[in-house]
Amino acid sequence: MKHTQRATLGGKLSAVLVAAGSSVGLGNIWRFPYVAGDNGGGAFLAIYILCVLIIGLPLMIAEFSVGRASHKNAVGAYRALDRKWSFLGYNGVLAAFLILGFYFVVSGWTAEYMVHSVTGELARYTTAEEYTAMFERFIGSPWRPLLYTSVFILATHFIIALGVQKGIERSAKVLMPLLFVILVALAIHSLLMPNGAEGLKFFLKPDFSKIGPATVLTALGQAFFSLSIGIGTMVTYASYFKPETNLRHTALNVTILDTLVALLAGIVIFPAVFSVGIEPSSGPSLVFITLPGIFNGMPWSMVWSSVFFLLLIVAALTSTISLHEVITAYMHEEWHLSRKAAAWATTGATMVLAALASLSLGVLNGWKICGLNLFDSLDYLTANILLPAGGFFTCIFVGWRLDRKVLEAQVTNDGHLPFRIRKVFVFLLRYLCPAVLLLVFLDNLGAF
Ligand code: PFF
Repeated sequence: MKHTQRATLGGKLSAVLVAAGSSVGLGNIWRFPYVAGDNGGGAFLAIYILCVLIIGLPLMIAEFSVGRASHKNAVGAYRALDRKWSFLGYNGVLAAFLILGFYFVVSGWTAEYMVHSVTGELARYTTAEEYTAMFERFIGSPWRPLLYTSVFILATHFIIALGVQKGIERSAKVLMPLLFVILVALAIHSLLMPNGAEGLKFFLKPDFSKIGPATVLTALGQAFFSLSIGIGTMVTYASYFKPETNLRHTALNVTILDTLVALLAGIVIFPAVFSVGIEPSSGPSLVFITLPGIFNGMPWSMVWSSVFFLLLIVAALTSTISLHEVITAYMHEEWHLSRKAAAWATTGATMVLAALASLSLGVLNGWKICGLNLFDSLDYLTANILLPAGGFFTCIFVGWRLDRKVLEAQVTNDGHLPFRIRKVFVFLLRYLCPAVLLLVFLDNLGAF
């Protein structure tokens, strides 16, 4: 089948919003606050920002360059630049599929919690035990999470089916500003709570005695997941960028926005947590168990919790769209399916995987892979193995294998932009990033 002309994104702003839509997600609002809370708050934040700047940013520029140099899906892009490196694209497509398997499930939970907030069900309970029981009853039930997960998958499918411009670009232009408005309103509200300042102090005042090698490794893993790098998403999105898009500025803007959202999420959550005297390190359940309890103590609790879960839905949706697009674009261009058929194939396959992952928290809990249920093993395999491996090989490919002229042409828009930080960029990509990533990777495999 011959392809019609490839879609391109509108202007500068579209490139930033679409890529930021992928980056900003549950990783920022659900995962970042509890990981920071577990790892010493402010100290973690400082290390995290360093990881984003030194490793995340150069890698994002590298992925953008691969995508725009080839104008192809993740597999096609690496193959077009060097046939032997197409495995990096396959690694990305596989990782996107596996991440969607559990990410869709958590996204479904946010939708269910939004409904419970609106109907007032969440406001019925008062103690932490009641919220825990409610959460466990919910995720363990066979059909309710499946229902919400399916709704979320179909919403993602619908946007993808509309295409790159009408679906992905337009939704990002609406959803991203909405997300910022909600987040800022919630942050202001949270800061005004009694004891709010104490929570803020915990989050922003670094205590470096808490920092060890493990903190650095955790921060790096979080940065990877949060920025959506090491997986081919940024390659796929950049394949739709215009020739005049400035890749460095776009990457810088996306990393700043992503970090800002993580910061704001911390500002929403820690003052609220401190104001009711809950341990900030209460883990992944922070958002689904601790927060509903906190909202409940507030005037207008239904409104605040509905708005908060709407925020999570919006953040999750722009990320699931990007993961879905990695697979859809691959099937469309490499298997020569129509875009519609490719989107349905992706939706069908992820629906089966997400259903199994969801059931693995309840009736299928007995099925274990290396001691973990399916949901946890998908999370572990992607965050701890496929993403760091993808990041490491991307550095090696772009830093050492890719023709330097191709990289220069992308970063400078064919010589139209100055490239003052060339030496630093190449040093980071060739030496520092791969060295650090190798350490993370070995650590995740339990080598230390
Ligand atoms: N960056 C997203 C988040 O922070 O929730 C998750 C994600 C999206 C990871 C897309 C990887 C990806 F390719």
